[in-house]
Parts: sequence; C-alpha cells; structure tokens
Amino acid sequence: MYKTLKCDPALFETELAERVYIVTGANSGTGLATTEQLVSQGATVVAACRRVAAGREATAHLAKARGQVEVMELDLGSLDSVRSFAEAFRAAHDRLDGLVNNAGVMNTPQGRTADGFEMQFGVNHLGHFLLTELLIDLLEASAPSRVVCVSSVAHAGFRDKAATLELEDLDFERRGYDGILAYNQSKLAIVIYARELARRLEGRGVSVFSTHPGWIRSNLVKHTAPTWVQNVLMRPLAPFIGLMSAEDGAQTQLHCLLDPDAPKHSGAYFSQNSILYATRADKKGGWPLRSPNALVYDDSLAAALDAKSRAMVGLPARP
Ligand SMILES: NC(=O)c1ccc[n+]([C@@H]2O[C@H](COP(=O)([O-])OP(=O)(O)OC[C@H]3O[C@@H](n4cnc5c(N)ncnc54)[C@H](OP(=O)(O)O)[C@@H]3O)[C@@H](O)[C@H]2O)c1
Repeated sequence: MYKTLKCDPALFETELAERVYIVTGANSGTGLATTEQLVSQGATVVAACRRVAAGREATAHLAKARGQVEVMELDLGSLDSVRSFAEAFRAAHDRLDGLVNNAGVMNTPQGRTADGFEMQFGVNHLGHFLLTELLIDLLEASAPSRVVCVSSVAHAGFRDKAATLELEDLDFERRGYDGILAYNQSKLAIVIYARELARRLEGRGVSVFSTHPGWIRSNLVKHTAPTWVQNVLMRPLAPFIGLMSAEDGAQTQLHCLLDPDAPKHSGAYFSQNSILYATRADKKGGWPLRSPNALVYDDSLAAALDAKSRAMVGLPARP
C-alpha cells in the first residue's frame, strides 16, 4: 500500500490575502488543484493557461472563493508568448510571492515548439526557464518568495530508460526520437535548473524547489494510453500502485509553497511516493528526498545547462 504524503492541515488555515501567485497549466490536473487551494486561502492566482477559454471554464467555480483567479494566456511552446505573458503580468501586478512552474506534456509524438526546439524540452524546461528568468527580479523584490518547479520521478528514469541530458543533442537530431527519453530529459533539466537557481539566489530571499507530484489521475498520459484506462479502469488499484487524485497530487507543491521550514531546503527535490523508484525507501517519497540520479548533483552539468538554456531562449551569456 502506498501512503500519500500530505501537507500539515494547519498550512491550509494560513492567510494568503495580498499574496500573488502564478500557476502555469492551471486549467487541469494538479495545477487546478493547487490554484483551488491557494484561492480558498485568499490568494490571487494568475492562472497561466495555453487555452484561455479552458482556463476560464475550469476556474469558473472559484468566482465566489475568498481570493481571486485571473486567467492569462501563456503558451510555453512559444518564447514570444512567454515574453508577452511576463510583460502582461508585470503590467497588472507589482509583486510575485510564488511561481509554480507546473504545466507539462509527456511522451508527445515528435514535434517542435514555435522556436524549433524539441517539444517536451521546449515546453517543460525552456519555456519555464525563460519565464522564471524574466520574473526573478520581481520575486526578489517580493521576498520572501518561492519558485516550485514541477518535475517527475522520470527525471531519474522511467520504463527502464535512464534519464540523461544530452546537451549536444537536446533536439534528438543525432539519436532516434523516443518520447519517453525526451520526457525524462526535460524533467531532469528541471531538477538541475531548480538546484542551480537556488544556489544563485542563496541569501536573497527566494527559495526554489523541484518536485515529483505523484502519479495523478489527469490528462497527462493522453499521448501514452487512453486516459480512461488510467483514470477509471485502474482506479480500484490506486492504493496498491500509488495512483492518486489531483488534490493529493498538489500536496507536494503546496508544502513547498507554504511550509515555513521548506526554505531551509532550498534547491532540494521533494517527492510524493512513487512505485517507479528503485529502492523501498525512495518509493515512500520524501520532503525532501535525495534524487537517485547522480546527474542532479553534477555542478558542471548544471552550469552547462544554464549557459545552453540562456543561449536557446536568447538571453545574454552570464558575465
Ligand atoms: N500526472 C502524473 O502522474 C504526473 C507524474 C509526474 C509529474 N507530473 C507533472 O505534473 C505536471 C502537471 O501534470 P498533470 O498531471 O496535472 O497533467 P495535465 O492535467 O495534463 O495538466 C497539464 C497542464 O499543462 C498545460 N500545458 C501543456 N502544454 C502547454 C503549453 N505549451 N503551454 C502552457 N501550458 C501547457 C496543459 O494545458 P492544456 O490543457 O491546454 O493542454 C494543462 O493545463 C506536469 O508538469 C507533469 O509532467 C505529472
């Protein structure tokens, strides 16, 4: 049986009025559940959605909640869209208490973002990388503030496929495309970036975390299997395999956003339980959990990823 790690209920009693959060991919799954919780505590959440109409529909039931939701357009597969979103956010808000880089795609057919990058690396890592870099000064000005980067257990490998970061072939031009390897690579980049960003922001009041949210009944698997197989057919097996609701899938991100002790672990990886870890201890999850992927702790790889990501999104090299 898998036991879901849950936030201290007292965290959900804390007052979040005046606080402003961004949640990407807030129209479904764990992004929507995170938004619902923050808004119920009085926060303003900017729901950054690829499809604005879907974002409005999904959050309509929050109209009478204590806080408020503002749906704004963000397509992480377009760097222009990321830049426009950041500008529009700044025009509307002068503070940012928490950025939840939650949106993601998994095991997509081979494809490219608007800027020509492999789709999963482009959406899951590069789009969020640029978004975060464009908002760092606002996060610093709003300190103490937090950044939560939603990764996956797949950053340590998935379906017997190791997770590696091939900086010279991020777009799968030299190796054959494999949707799972591309997902693993994008999620590994997220964990490495979170750790590197935390190091860079140390002492400046901005804490950064990466997470595995759990195995959640959501739309994420749509390119791998019909969603009803996982979300309906497999439901009776849930406690035995660690399959959970979106609300439970939001717990790890909410812990990182709200727990007063979490900033002591800035840069760390926080994981819900997962059947996919190799060891019994890791399968239980941990807040925080030492990643089983040694590449996460390779500082030179982190520096190289940072330099490459900056070049890819058109930011100047660091001095
Ligand atoms: N479900 C799991 O078991 C699981 C396990 C490990 C990690 N995760 C991670 O958890 C996060 C949330 O996933 P979920 O399970 O909640 O899945 P989900 O219900 O499919 O939600 C994914 C969200 O990302 C959005 N998105 C996709 N492409 C985008 C783009 N180009 N620009 C902006 N938004 C985009 C989706 O918008 P549309 O509705 O418009 O497509 C949707 O709102 C993802 O990062 C995922 O990798 C999930």
